[in-house]
Amino acid sequence: MSSFHTPALATECVRIIDPQAGGIYVDATLGGGGHAAAMFERCPELRMFGFDQDPQAIAEARETLAGYADRMEYIPCNFSRLRTELALRMIKSIDGILFDLGVSSHQLDTTERGFSFDRDALLDMRMDTRSAMTAAQVVNELPAGELTQIFKNYGEEPRAARIAREIVAQRAQRPIQTTGELARILESVAGTGTKESLKTKLRVFQALRIYVNRELEVLRPALQDAINILKPGGRIVVLSYHSLEDRVVKNTFRDAATGCVCPPRAPRCVCGEKKRLVLLNKRPQSADEAELARNNRSRGARLRAAERIREES
Ligand SMILES: C[S@@+](CC[C@H](N)C(=O)[O-])C[C@H]1O[C@@H](n2cnc3c(N)ncnc32)[C@H](O)[C@@H]1O
Repeated sequence: MSSFHTPALATECVRIIDPQAGGIYVDATLGGGGHAAAMFERCPELRMFGFDQDPQAIAEARETLAGYADRMEYIPCNFSRLRTELALRMIKSIDGILFDLGVSSHQLDTTERGFSFDRDALLDMRMDTRSAMTAAQVVNELPAGELTQIFKNYGEEPRAARIAREIVAQRAQRPIQTTGELARILESVAGTGTKESLKTKLRVFQALRIYVNRELEVLRPALQDAINILKPGGRIVVLSYHSLEDRVVKNTFRDAATGCVCPPRAPRCVCGEKKRLVLLNKRPQSADEAELARNNRSRGARLRAAERIREES
């Protein structure tokens, strides 16, 4: 397996999607192409469209999947454009789709990408290196109130307001430019070398990453688009890595699996909602011990899967 990224729960993802010859599949988060390669190994005659907003990921996937060049199309953009980009290629419906959310090992481990508090680099955190807003701009330009909301909503950080105030005080002296400078500010609030200080750094860095990449904002509409273009019997699999993300997946799937939400005594349906999905697992699946021993980063992975129903009701 390449050092770029080891795919989590790959066997399970492929088993659920169950690719068939001639079928059309989407990998919405191609990364290094590990999951996509596993799909092709299972069924070389499928056709696949691969999205990733990180140009480095697309370049890596092109190498991994070089043997399937005639069956693979790369779409280097955010999966928020899923429907539009597929429609531009005359694809109106698909047989299966995978979302493996968040960042790849390569993004985390490449110091200059500025994702990690234990690697000193410019505060960047953009998955899409063509986009304008970096984490440095966020910490240096947003008012304390907005920073507080970001740390609360996307990091569930209990000291959000204090941290935001400290950032504003420090940046008045000089701009906060690096991951190391931000980590030291967090330590000045939460302490050094303790479990609590580590958790604070994890939460605040996660919050900034989610905000910079609009991760939660684009997720629900993209999942809804994916569900809408699935053929009857087609399957959607989503791997998420933190509870905020998993909640969006769970609620979006639940809504699509519920159908009519009119009061039970209503004489007829006025909401117009149709039941479009059947859930394939009520609780998210996670990696087993053998996989955890091979790939520690699969630890947080939560897999949810659903199938587009044949008869809407
Ligand atoms: C966990 S990695 C996927 C790894 C991949 N499954 C593999 O086997 O190598 C997530 C990838 O999705 C990309 N990504 C995350 N959110 C995205 C979005 N909204 N649109 C497009 N790509 C996204 C990231 O740039 C990253 O390369």
